[in-house]
Amino acid sequence: MAEFSLPKNSKIKSRGQSYKSTSEGKNKRTFKVYRYDPDSGENPRYDRYELDLDQTGPMVLDALIKIKNEVDPTLTFRRSCREGICGSCAMNMDGKNGLACTTSIEDCKGGELQITPLPHQEVVKDLVPDLTHFYAQYASIKPWLQTATPAPAGKERLQSPEDREKLDGLYECILCACCSTSCPSYWWNSDRFLGPAILLQAYRWLADSRDEMTGERLDELEDPFRLYRCHTIMNCANTCPKGLNPAKAIAEIKKMQVERAV
Ligand code: SF4
Ligand code: SF4
Ligand code: FES
Repeated sequence: MAEFSLPKNSKIKSRGQSYKSTSEGKNKRTFKVYRYDPDSGENPRYDRYELDLDQTGPMVLDALIKIKNEVDPTLTFRRSCREGICGSCAMNMDGKNGLACTTSIEDCKGGELQITPLPHQEVVKDLVPDLTHFYAQYASIKPWLQTATPAPAGKERLQSPEDREKLDGLYECILCACCSTSCPSYWWNSDRFLGPAILLQAYRWLADSRDEMTGERLDELEDPFRLYRCHTIMNCANTCPKGLNPAKAIAEIKKMQVERAV
């Protein structure tokens, strides 16, 4: 169940270090970045890094890479594809969850640009959240095609174009966790509520015409917490960097539960 007070070692106590840019350029901006190193035994802090934007790429991830390469190699964050596909650079920028590689610095409001890890997750280090529980929840929905009948001899299991279209808006999910970590219901009940990302993935398999375990999948979700803790607050749809709508997928699952009960 949710803890309503912050653990002592998670409170920000010191102002942290400030790194000034030595460039003579005029187009400068300060990035206020959350820092936490569990091995130091110290509480988290914000370090401030001033960069010359004329010498920095346009995206928040470009700024973080510049800081790591040229200013402070101890800064830790995840990234891989640099094009909004892998989901690993998900973090909170300027108060909103998103992908650092597709969030433009210019689009974040003026002044210091604050960067923190995805909210309401344990922090491994700096901007790296611990997503172990999130991935375990993903595994719990059995995210693969399940069948009872044998596949047609020597053939794939075919799907009509119309049935394939039903997966649009679902298969594009990159499991970045931006939606789940912006969902108030998930903040308070993530031990039992699956959250928007995992429920969207659950619906991706319920909507797949080739899957033959619909009843079993719905049985697994028929639970006051796992599915029904969604109160349609819609933060998930507002934050998804891929433009998906997990709340709609959740509503579809609820509809399937009702339809099979009548
Ligand atoms: S639904 Fe969107 S925000 Fe949620 S995990 Fe998938 S891609 Fe990320
Ligand atoms: S619509 Fe449901 S899943 Fe989405 S943010 Fe709201 S409570 Fe969470
Ligand atoms: S680095 Fe892969 S999504 Fe940003």
